[in-house]
Amino acid sequence: MSCRFCGDRGFILKGEGAVSCKCVKEKAMARLIKDSRMPLSFLKCTLDNFNFKYYSKSCVDLETGLSHYDIARLAFQAAGGFTSSFIKDPHTDGLLFTGQVGSGKTYLACCIANELLKKGKGVLFAVVPDLLDEIRSTYDPGRSSGEPTEFDLVDRARQAPLLVLDDLGAHNYTDWTRNKIYSIINYRLNHRLPVIATTNISPENLEGYLGERTTSRLLEMCRPYRLLVDLDIRAVQRKEKDSRMIR
Ligand SMILES: Nc1ncnc2c1ncn2[C@@H]1O[C@H](COP(=O)(O)OP(=O)(O)OP(=O)(O)O)[C@@H](O)[C@H]1O
Ligand SMILES: [Mg+2]
Ligand SMILES: [Zn+2]
Repeated sequence: MSCRFCGDRGFILKGEGAVSCKCVKEKAMARLIKDSRMPLSFLKCTLDNFNFKYYSKSCVDLETGLSHYDIARLAFQAAGGFTSSFIKDPHTDGLLFTGQVGSGKTYLACCIANELLKKGKGVLFAVVPDLLDEIRSTYDPGRSSGEPTEFDLVDRARQAPLLVLDDLGAHNYTDWTRNKIYSIINYRLNHRLPVIATTNISPENLEGYLGERTTSRLLEMCRPYRLLVDLDIRAVQRKEKDSRMIR
């Protein structure tokens, strides 16, 4: 028994009738978060605590003439825009965050996921190389029958109301991996289910990695945004932590 209010019955007697106990909502939220497979360290990221200090106002991208800060603002606005659109219409266009290592791509994708989880929307966070490994492990003949099958894993990624594909491209490229990613993306495109993807590969180079068919679909489904930093945010945060320790 875990609820001291209702003894896990889910309702509390009130007057002549009964009302739903608050633990019912809490349990549903806990399940939604667990099923989302959001990494623990990113569960607290929200658009409200997105920090712009990592994006320089003086470093200018030669291609666009915009500062790293301006570019981050555009990506941030797109993230907020996606979140509110998705609440109104779950078939809204997705986003593709590209950029170098430690530029905040996963962070921004998780801000979106967390905002939507808070609203009770179903999200699946999949680190692409891990998802592929997990699918591959279903071929192991020694697996017990209770574990998810390849179909279960692929279907979950196909059907999730919102799918976050983190680290797309950070895996090996075989016909098998290309086909798995294709089948998930193609299904989602056909059913107009959005994807938020993060990758270190620029949109121009994606085709060489993912293949023409997947790239074409991904770019149809997702508006690309680049994040630029002059220093890896992880290294900056490490320095900040170290200097706090010394003080
Ligand atoms: N805008 C931000 N505000 C606060 N913390 C941030 C922000 N962006 C990133 N971080 C933190 O910096 C670290 C690196 O960010 P993140 O994981 O999003 O990078 P990435 O671009 O996905 O890198 P990679 O290409 O290696 O996957 C994380 O610990 C994250 O929490
Ligand atoms: Mg990342
Ligand atoms: Zn209860």
